Amino acid sequence: MNESISVGFLGCGVVGGAAARIVADHAQALEERCGARIEIGRIAVRSLAKEREVDLPPGSFTTDPWEVVADPSIQIVVEAIGGIEPALDLILEAIKNGKHVVTANKELISTMGRDVVEAAEAAGVDVLFEASVGGGIPILRPMKESLAGDRIRRVMGIVNGTTNYILTRMSERGEGFAEALATAEALGYTELDPSADIEGYDAAQKTAILASIAFNALVVAGDVHREGIARVAASDIAAAHELGYEVKLLSVAEIEDGAISARVHPAMIPKTHPLASVRDVFNAVFVEGEESGELMFFGRGAGGGPTGSAVVGDVAEIARHIVSGGTSVGWTHRERAKITPHDGIKVRYYVVLSVLDQPGVLSTVAGVFARHGVSIASVRQEGSGDEASLTLITHVGTEGQHGLTLRELRELDVVRAINSSVRVVGTEEL
Ligand SMILES: NC(=O)c1ccc[n+]([C@@H]2O[C@H](COP(=O)([O-])OP(=O)(O)OC[C@H]3O[C@@H](n4cnc5c(N)ncnc54)[C@H](OP(=O)(O)O)[C@@H]3O)[C@@H](O)[C@H]2O)c1
Repeated sequence: MNESISVGFLGCGVVGGAAARIVADHAQALEERCGARIEIGRIAVRSLAKEREVDLPPGSFTTDPWEVVADPSIQIVVEAIGGIEPALDLILEAIKNGKHVVTANKELISTMGRDVVEAAEAAGVDVLFEASVGGGIPILRPMKESLAGDRIRRVMGIVNGTTNYILTRMSERGEGFAEALATAEALGYTELDPSADIEGYDAAQKTAILASIAFNALVVAGDVHREGIARVAASDIAAAHELGYEVKLLSVAEIEDGAISARVHPAMIPKTHPLASVRDVFNAVFVEGEESGELMFFGRGAGGGPTGSAVVGDVAEIARHIVSGGTSVGWTHRERAKITPHDGIKVRYYVVLSVLDQPGVLSTVAGVFARHGVSIASVRQEGSGDEASLTLITHVGTEGQHGLTLRELRELDVVRAINSSVRVVGTEEL
């Protein structure tokens, strides 16, 4: 008879509840795949009164999470509480007690990941966190394992479903940001405080984890340049459509000459790029490998079923390790990565200027771009009088060059206002 492996849960909400249900519902298939029976040990929750997704004897639940991490019969702990404390201390205690850990906690991994992975390595246990990025989309394990023979150059993703839903409403229904946000809130797609999504914090945490795994480096959330979507205007989206682009909140992580740049910001991406067609709450990660070329991973980035399935996938991997011996760790490089300063990141920009309707304006504006070493790929002059505007798309320049250009343009007498400045991504080959 196969051995049995006991899993303890910290939290039984959206993620923990779904993962526990999947473990119970798929017991037979999991046993066949892992060579061991996966059993639910104890589950820690805040309230014993709530109804749970999984049907277990009442004694299985406790309000004391420390009981779970101390329980000698439990071999794997699933952390699904969220946040840093008490989750971090609980995870470290579980590791100290020789337990393997699975977590979906991007906030914790993107800030304290090194402490957790180092503790796990010292204790000879596994820490896996597939569900922390892209919910149900397998992305970390494919990069870590399937692409171990490749060298990943760039990872670009749409990793926040809420903002992608808002941008989809703006793009397809012509709604403004506030209106689209209100719909997302009404549908329950936002947190109580939507700023973690809207301001890009959630995506930045996921970008740090993606970059760490893609480049086998240590990138933390604070290394990721972050801009949210609150300033994306309906007019930016309309202009993007005219030019054959969509506007997306993109996570981008690149490596060049050993230095990593990681950022989250709204960007125009050509409609022909696979990421442009990722709609609603869906997520996708586009990976560019030196050997494998372009790969895309697409699916549901949140929700109980998808995230729970990713958590149980990690549990199953650990169960196989327990059966066969050996461990795997999240990433193997412990030193902080060399990060490209934001000013050095190479990028193209789309810029709309409201200008005075008089001769010589175009050459004055072009002169500013030239002075800062930014060449212009296309320019369109429209309207007259108070409506006169210039729409420019640049070639690749650095963020620093673009920043100086925009600052000088703002001070020109002939420029009334910079109506829009949005990065253009995915056209490097053009
Ligand atoms: N929701 C998603 O779609 C999703 C997707 C990817 C990653 N994640 C990550 O998964 C983690 C969990 O998120 P979630 O959405 O499942 O959260 P949730 O629904 O709020 O569940 C949190 C669970 O933790 C329990 N809990 C909270 N504090 C506790 C404490 N001190 N001791 C014991 N139990 C405690 C809660 O108990 P009660 O039930 O009694 O309140 C609840 O069962 C977070 O790190 C989140 O970022 C979530």
